[in-house]
Amino acid sequence: MLVIQICVGSSCFLRGSREVIETVEKLINHYRLDDVVVLKGSFCMEHCNDGVTLKIGDKTFTGVNRESITGLFEKEVFEQLYGVKNDEPDQHK
Ligand code: FES
Repeated sequence: MLVIQICVGSSCFLRGSREVIETVEKLINHYRLDDVVVLKGSFCMEHCNDGVTLKIGDKTFTGVNRESITGLFEKEVFEQLYGVKNDEPDQHK
């Protein structure tokens, strides 16, 4: 099970963590990952000056917003779940 924790501390909340959470919920539904990904709110992660903060597995990301979360989710979640790197061009040999 891959855990995504999104900070809902006051600074991140004011910077839009609720919209990020809503987008992550939609992505989990869209990719039908609810059996393998769990979404949690988190208290302050001590990156308050860096924008909305979240963790995907053990990796921490800051400055996330409603626009950037989709690309980050697609790259990190698939990479961590399946070892698939989505940011490299296809290599056909
Ligand atoms: S409120 Fe989110 S890191 Fe502090």
